[in-house]
This record gives sequence, C-alpha cells and structure tokens, in this order.
Amino acid sequence: MFPIQRPRRLRSHPQLRRMVRETILTTNDLIYPLFAVPGSGIAKEVKSMPGVYQLSVDKIVDEAKEVYDLGIPAIILFGIPEDKDADATGAWHDCGIVQKAATAVKAAVPDLIVIADTCLCEYTSHGHCGYLQVGDLTGRVLNDPTLELLKKTAVSQANAGADIIAPSGMMDGFVQAIRTGLDEAGFQDTPILSYAAKYASAYYGPFRDAADSTPQFGDRRTYQMDPGNGREAIKEIGLDIAEGADMLMVKPALAYMDIIWRVKEASNLPVAAYNVSGEYSMIKAAALNGWIDEERVVMETLTGFKRAGADLILTYHAKNAARWLR
Ligand code: PBG
Ligand code: ZN
Repeated sequence: MFPIQRPRRLRSHPQLRRMVRETILTTNDLIYPLFAVPGSGIAKEVKSMPGVYQLSVDKIVDEAKEVYDLGIPAIILFGIPEDKDADATGAWHDCGIVQKAATAVKAAVPDLIVIADTCLCEYTSHGHCGYLQVGDLTGRVLNDPTLELLKKTAVSQANAGADIIAPSGMMDGFVQAIRTGLDEAGFQDTPILSYAAKYASAYYGPFRDAADSTPQFGDRRTYQMDPGNGREAIKEIGLDIAEGADMLMVKPALAYMDIIWRVKEASNLPVAAYNVSGEYSMIKAAALNGWIDEERVVMETLTGFKRAGADLILTYHAKNAARWLR
C-alpha cells in the first residue's frame, strides 16, 4: 500500500525546506565566554580548548570589539586573579580582574552586554565555590557564610559596569542574597541570570584548566546537582524564580537536553543553555583530526539546543557560529 502522507514532499527542494524549518539559530542567541588574566599583551591559548585564550584586559577589549562587530550581543566574563586566598578576595575586590575587564569593555564597547559570572572558585586557594570549615578536606562548602561573599561580589561587579549578574555556585538562596544586595546598592534594574540547574559534570574539565579552578581536594558534588536527577531541576528553578531570577540556565547542555526542555515547559523565563568546555573540546578534537565537519556539527548542535528550548546559548563556538551565520 502507498502512503497517503508523504513527508518527503516538503523536503524536495532547499527553498521548501527553508520554508518549513521550525528552528532557526541566529546570532542573537549567542553569548561568548572570555577569560581575563592580569597583565597586558597576553593571549595564552588554553591547551585543552584550541581557539580559546586567557586574555589580559587590553586583549579582552580587542576581543569584545570583534565579538560586537560579529553581531554577538553579549559576553560572559570569568577571571583568573593574581592571588588566591581563603576569602576569595579577588572575586569581590573593586580592583578585581573581572571588575577591571568589565569597566574596560563597557568604556570601549558600551552596547555590548557584559555578563559577570559570579562565583568564588577561581579566587579561593582551595578552588571550591565558597567558604570551607577550617580543616575541611572534603569540600563541603559552608552555605550561608558564602552568600555574603557572593552578594559582595555581585555588587562590586555591577559597580564596575556588568549589565547582568550570573551566579554559578549552586548555593541555596544565592539568588535571593544577590537580589537583596543589588537592590540595596541601587541596582534594582540589573538582571540575574541564575545557573539554576548546574550538574556536577566531568564536562567542565577543560574549563578548570582555562580558569585555573580545579578543586585542590574533594569535588563539587555537595553543591552541584547529581546527573541522574531531572525532577530536582524543577525544584531548583522553582526556588530561583521565587527568589527573583530573571533568566534560568541549564548546564551542561549536550547530555541535558531533556532538562532544557523541562525547564522551558515549567517556566516563563528565558532559558539559557551552557555548551560547556568539554563539549567544545570534543568537537574541536574530532574536527582537528579531520573526523567530522566542524561547521556542520557545530551548527547542528547549537540548533539542537534551540530546538530543545534554549533561548540563549553560551558557547565557545560563538564567534565561528556568527561567521557561519553571515
Ligand atoms: C564556576 C564555573 C564552572 C563553569 C562555569 N562557571 C566550572 C565548575 O563548576 O567547575 C564551567 C564552564 C565550562 O565548562 O565551560 N562555578
Ligand atoms: Zn564556582
């Protein structure tokens, strides 16, 4: 028997395919991560992330101009400080590296949106995302004392010019603490992009090289989510929404497409997906070996995030994707 419905009818010509395409990736969807280091004239490639560099502030400014010229609306800044200590001073100090980079970028490219990643792991001597009990060798971060530092960090980043605050430490109550801090400091209109559902993932490996933030001992499983949990993501986003989050992030993206979908269905806030370092490195490695077609694989992957429900995609592929979209 011949089929009545013939889906292939609508695939027969490129223009027809273009007409019925449901999901279209645009440059508007992209956010480009940048790593700021002290000094000047520095561009140091991250070994495990070909094409990604640690950049001094002057180079960050050059990069920001390029990103803006490519039509990418936003960057997210991470910092690698000169010194690390138990109080993560480099995170919340007004002369911190992210603060300096934010101020410089806003002065040079005022229309580029600057997102500040708000966490402490790049700045603590032990590499955990908050305070530890003296003598703790397991990495069980003290929740409430850490909130004070996060609040201070967010206010200092906003003061330096950051347009959006993106807390990534998965501390309970961190959105509320930061919202209160920002409001008290007069930043009522500064949005919070919460890393709402962030999993304890091996895909962060290359990032920890890039940001020099590998925990010296223990791991992040007492604060980041267990990869087996889906319903718990809905609990996390519910809390973040109640605490005042303006946008929600799911991280990583590739192994968590179902979570992106569920978060999109469960909320009416914009959803961001973080296409993390390990996801980038896998594609890069295969492409550099000539095993896959980089452009096609990247565009298919990013389109997949969007189809799953992502409104925004944080990705190290952003500059290339913007070029391919031209
Ligand atoms: C810091 C932070 C991490 C990433 C973003 N913010 C790493 C971590 O939790 O260890 C990962 C980003 C990536 O892998 O690209 N809390
Ligand atoms: Zn952290």
